[in-house]
Amino acid sequence: MLKGNVWKMAALWIFTIPAAVAGTSSPHVWASTAVDAGRYLVVAGGCNDCHTPGWDPSGGKTPLTRWLTGSPVGFEGPWGTTYPANLRLLVQEASEAQWVAMFKGKTPLPQYPMRPPMPWVNVHRLSVRDVRALYVFIRSLGPMGKPAPAYMRPGQLPTTPYIIFVPQQPKASLTNVFP
Ligand code: HEC
Repeated sequence: MLKGNVWKMAALWIFTIPAAVAGTSSPHVWASTAVDAGRYLVVAGGCNDCHTPGWDPSGGKTPLTRWLTGSPVGFEGPWGTTYPANLRLLVQEASEAQWVAMFKGKTPLPQYPMRPPMPWVNVHRLSVRDVRALYVFIRSLGPMGKPAPAYMRPGQLPTTPYIIFVPQQPKASLTNVFP
């Protein structure tokens, strides 16, 4: 009887240790493969909203073949005009280590500045494991499309369609419509 209990306790100890260790590591997405984790993170993390043309209008039904191919529509603000990068091509030129450095450095890398509205302050907090999963998933899609238009400095007039990302002040006559 006592011997049986000792075995049970030993089994309990062995099987609870990995859970305890996992509990102390930084939070990350669980999935059976890195590709599955990366795909989940891309969707839930909102990457398609900006990096996949037509994602929102299609209700998220854009075929996988066109995911993350970048956008020709710029975001214009005090930082100039930025275009969501073609991530399918970017992961071909950047190594996994560079990708991790892009997200996990103290500040964005000079060659990958992640200017607004790229939510660097948020993605910077992803665990290294999740950042790697993003890379593995995006690479698994293969190269597709062409590079997004080049960044334009403040004051340069974009030659592509662009969204103005500057707070607008309501006209005085409209301010009291919803008191
Ligand atoms: C609100 C729109 C928006 C969202 C959401 C967004 N991005 Fe971006 N992303 C951009 C823009 C714009 C750029 C280009 C920034 C620049 O030129 O400096 C960019 C650039 C990048 C770059 C290249 C770095 C650079 O500066 O060239 C990577 C990598 C990237 N995004 C990954 C992601 C991932 C992964 C997600 C989801 C977790 C995501 N983005 C979500 C808008 C967005």
